[in-house]
Amino acid sequence: MRVLVTGGAGFIGSVTGRALRLAGHEIAILDDFSTGHDWACIGKQIFRADLRDRAGLDAAFGAFRPEAVMHFAAKAVVPESVANPGLYYDVNVVGSLRLLEAMRLVGCRKIVFSSSAAVYGTPEKSPIDEQAPQHPINPYGRTKKHFEEVLEDVRPADGLAYASLRYFNACGAAPEWHLGEIREPETHLLPIVIRATMKNQPFTVCGTDYETRDGTCVRDYVDVRDLADAHVRALERLRPGQGAAYNLGSELGTTVREVVAAVGKVLGKPVPFRDGPRRAGDPATLVASCAKARAELGWTPRRPLEESIRSVVEFLQSRGG
Ligand SMILES: NC(=O)c1ccc[n+]([C@@H]2O[C@H](COP(=O)([O-])OP(=O)(O)OC[C@H]3O[C@@H](n4cnc5c(N)ncnc54)[C@H](O)[C@@H]3O)[C@@H](O)[C@H]2O)c1
Repeated sequence: MRVLVTGGAGFIGSVTGRALRLAGHEIAILDDFSTGHDWACIGKQIFRADLRDRAGLDAAFGAFRPEAVMHFAAKAVVPESVANPGLYYDVNVVGSLRLLEAMRLVGCRKIVFSSSAAVYGTPEKSPIDEQAPQHPINPYGRTKKHFEEVLEDVRPADGLAYASLRYFNACGAAPEWHLGEIREPETHLLPIVIRATMKNQPFTVCGTDYETRDGTCVRDYVDVRDLADAHVRALERLRPGQGAAYNLGSELGTTVREVVAAVGKVLGKPVPFRDGPRRAGDPATLVASCAKARAELGWTPRRPLEESIRSVVEFLQSRGG
């Protein structure tokens, strides 16, 4: 299939682009490079455009004529969404609507959408399945929920096929493809802990008085290469007029202290950290149930956290630390 990968210069989009090519699909990338990187792009078909720019979208769709879209492009930093909600609605909702319109104009009726565990907000129970109530607690999560609802409304109206993939905490890297997560400032725990340890600069544990086994937040870390595999499976199972949402996680809860211990073990040295207060809006525990993705996509998360940590270390070392 010809697949347009929006956000293909970013962390998850770039790794998935490689996986799509390995699976025999032709890809093009559409990205504004606001957080993406030139070095992460593969292939010659790269459209430098903002999702909100109809002319840029039309040029890309006209030139590449995609049969499907993988839609990763988004603003995705929770505190920034609280500080600047208008930007988040503009890119994640308005931009995504423009993308859908560009798809409609060329008869492209398949989309795999990067949603998020943020749609659930503070869960009532754990693990979280797809039927859990959705009460997002920040603008970022609300924009993801809104666009999922748009897809579900458009589906019966004009035969759209979609999969909304709700990732939990994406982690790891694909050093074999020279791909991984680089953002400034870094906002995700695993690269923060690894970089702090490699540079011997302490990082802060945000909150040590949660109702969890050691007082720190429990999260579900899923390897980016496992996520890429789920995307290929979801794409290949899209059927006209059908849509579904899937949780993608490891189904294992890991506390911040356990992440620290695992990084220390892999790097063979102590992790420098200090304990700090809670951050506003952090639920104590977020762990996925992926029974639906197992049953319907035939997908299983395979890579344990230690393997993800090793992949990040290898990737960072290959870039000079
Ligand atoms: N990383 C995670 O743990 C996680 C968890 C849940 C959901 N997600 C979702 O997965 C997707 C990818 O996340 P990521 O971690 O790879 O982030 P990322 O920032 O590395 O990638 C996002 C890409 O989108 C591009 N982009 C942003 N705004 C754009 C615009 N207006 N027009 C065109 N391109 C634009 C960026 O340049 C970047 O290449 C996002 O939709 C995010 O919300 C990520």
